[in-house]
Amino acid sequence: MTESTRVESFDAVDVIRTKRDGRCLSPEQIDWVIDAYTRGVVAEEQMAALAMAIFLRGMEREEISRWTRAMIATGERMDFSALSKPTTDKHSTGGVGDKITLPLAPLVASFGVAVPQLSGRGLGHTGGTLDKLEAIPGWRAAVSNDEMMRQLEQVGAVICAAGSGLAPADKKLYALRDVTGTVEAIPLIASSIMSKKIAEGTAALTLDVKTGAGAFMKDEADARALARTMVDLGTDAGVRTVALLTDMSAPLGRTAGNALEVRESLEVLAGGGPADIIELTCALAREMLDAAGVHDADVEQALADGRAMDTWRAMIVAQGGDVDAELPQARHIEEYRAEADGVVSSLDALQVGVAAWRLGAGRSRPGEAVQAAAGVEIVKHLGEEVRAGDVLARLHTDTPERVGRAVDAIDGAWTIAATGTAIGERRIVLDRIA
Ligand code: URA
Repeated sequence: MTESTRVESFDAVDVIRTKRDGRCLSPEQIDWVIDAYTRGVVAEEQMAALAMAIFLRGMEREEISRWTRAMIATGERMDFSALSKPTTDKHSTGGVGDKITLPLAPLVASFGVAVPQLSGRGLGHTGGTLDKLEAIPGWRAAVSNDEMMRQLEQVGAVICAAGSGLAPADKKLYALRDVTGTVEAIPLIASSIMSKKIAEGTAALTLDVKTGAGAFMKDEADARALARTMVDLGTDAGVRTVALLTDMSAPLGRTAGNALEVRESLEVLAGGGPADIIELTCALAREMLDAAGVHDADVEQALADGRAMDTWRAMIVAQGGDVDAELPQARHIEEYRAEADGVVSSLDALQVGVAAWRLGAGRSRPGEAVQAAAGVEIVKHLGEEVRAGDVLARLHTDTPERVGRAVDAIDGAWTIAATGTAIGERRIVLDRIA
């Protein structure tokens, strides 16, 4: 039967009207519309109208669950059941300076569990894990399924590019949502993320759902609702799923930018590094290990005694990376200075992320090259005293003509309160949703 002779079970306009009028889509309507859209039978403008109706009207739990399953069914499913160890994965909704995957994957794998971490590239102000790792000379993101299984068995951790075979309906729909103002719908975000994670075949999943200026979900109530929806989807699909709700009002650590973030991750793997990165890495590691059946793991000790670093080195070498090579350094570094004395009471993550992006660390369009060495190095972070004229940040780039627009972005990112003002301790993990 060819596409032109096939009799379709539904009419796209009826499906759109159902949701437009605030009614639930039936399981059959959902299965059909996702499949027909992937086949090209439902037109882009029809799916755009449906996505907007979902954005405005929402979806019930059963609808989101069916929508997710229908997207998974359009592609392949990976299967790690042949491995001799349990699998556990994490997903972050993305933020500024969020390099946590880099120390986290080898840390968790050093306890004998498998971490298949299919990652993406950055778009806009949030960085992508693959872009960060590509700052390491020789490292390659593309790994075949066989190589992945071998590396999981031998090393325990793989961070690599997701193949295009996982949930192809989502790939198409995400590109459409991106240009039709329908990205920020909780049912669509949750089903998009979870379709890929469930298709990836992990047995356990820990979600890092971020909230605050530098996050996708700026509002805590929205982030909480997204976390709840994703946990329910994972649980319904038989994946042990837990979410941590975490703060992204200020950047994580002191760097935003690819090679800069690799360098900071190496400090953490060497037993040092910024306290917020260590806290979040260890909190997520404990959740991932717990879900894999490894309880009460001393993850701080595994960072301190070099076990996590040993796994990092093996993981990078297995993907062609030269662990001992110098990381790229920017050709130009500009200092950004304070205008007043005082104490840093807030630091806007979004502004820092946009500045890093404008310096060349990120891309505006898929496929664009990024600068490995570009980014922002934060010298004065939350709670630190400054004097007028002190360096607040260093802006790294290979193309100095980008500095002006980066300074425009970062201007006003630091709020300086009067010297002596007590700045409360920053809470990184705000809640746990299971
Ligand atoms: N990341 C995804 O994979 N999908 C979304 O919809 C949003 C973020």
